[in-house]
Amino acid sequence: MKEIVVSGSRPTGNLHLGNYLGAVKQFVLMQEKHESYFFVADYHSLTTHPNPKDLHENVKTVLVEYLACGLDPNKTTLYLQSDIPEITELYLFFNMHAYLGELERVPTFKEKAKSQPDNMNAGLLTYPTLMAADILVHKGTHVPVGKDQEQHLEMCRNFARRFNHVYQQEVFPEPIPFNMGNELVKVPSLNGTGKMSKSDDENSCIFLKDSAEAIRKKVMRAVTDTGPTTPNETKPEAVENLFDLMKHVSTQDTVSSFEESYNNMTIRYGDMKKQLAEDMVNYLAPIREKIDAIANDNTYLRHVAEEGKEKARISARRTLDEVRNVIGFRNF
Ligand code: TRP
Repeated sequence: MKEIVVSGSRPTGNLHLGNYLGAVKQFVLMQEKHESYFFVADYHSLTTHPNPKDLHENVKTVLVEYLACGLDPNKTTLYLQSDIPEITELYLFFNMHAYLGELERVPTFKEKAKSQPDNMNAGLLTYPTLMAADILVHKGTHVPVGKDQEQHLEMCRNFARRFNHVYQQEVFPEPIPFNMGNELVKVPSLNGTGKMSKSDDENSCIFLKDSAEAIRKKVMRAVTDTGPTTPNETKPEAVENLFDLMKHVSTQDTVSSFEESYNNMTIRYGDMKKQLAEDMVNYLAPIREKIDAIANDNTYLRHVAEEGKEKARISARRTLDEVRNVIGFRNF
């Protein structure tokens, strides 16, 4: 069976270095080898009731930043979820075969029930059916998502299997999680512990659009310790993390020379951070320049969105024509 990769991202703000080195780069690699679809999940973001101005800005940010990272509209089909009416149509059909019990049991739904008890809307409940529609509208077979989405993908497989079973036809594949083997990329936070994440405090996370000044400030404030006191000491997490970051953006020689000075206890973290900051600035400069250029080019963005919409709708319409026929809709 043909491999079809589908993935999407909710428009929730700016991408950071962790996003870039992880999921984004992975998709950029995938678009070279597979038929692929990538969309901005703007419908999904409605569960939190964004105001209209923010919605548009956030969608633009995601589109711009993914393009700047190398998603290529000539290689992948890049579009907005809300431009594809077939997704909503399929969502309706899946909802007819999705059960209240199974939707209520989804861990992310249960978390929302705790964190936002005053906004438990039906869109939240049916988040998994919309996500299944996103994937299956193109008969997606592979979905590059992180651990946090595995449950949703499992439900997507259930909905696919159930539909095929109810109508006794192999309409949908059962899509599986997918990665190109770099799931072990570790992009640590600057606050001394854990992964880079924007839910941490602002200063521990390097955004792709950060200015050189902002990057320097954040890196110089990164947590370290008082320094090694015996040769070849095991590094504490905060220091190990700085080295890990350095491995992503600096040359091998630079990393080795700081390793050496750590091991012989002559290291000065101030110098290491300065070097890391400069290398980070240089590493991100081309992306930041692209972000600025693309963000200012509405003609290009409109063109990308229109072309993506056209391509995505061809595949989506083909699926929905089949689905409607299988369900029993007939013309008079
Ligand atoms: N739920 C995903 C997230 O929060 C975004 C998403 C929506 C998605 N639809 C999808 C991802 C379909 C992959 C495929 O990250």
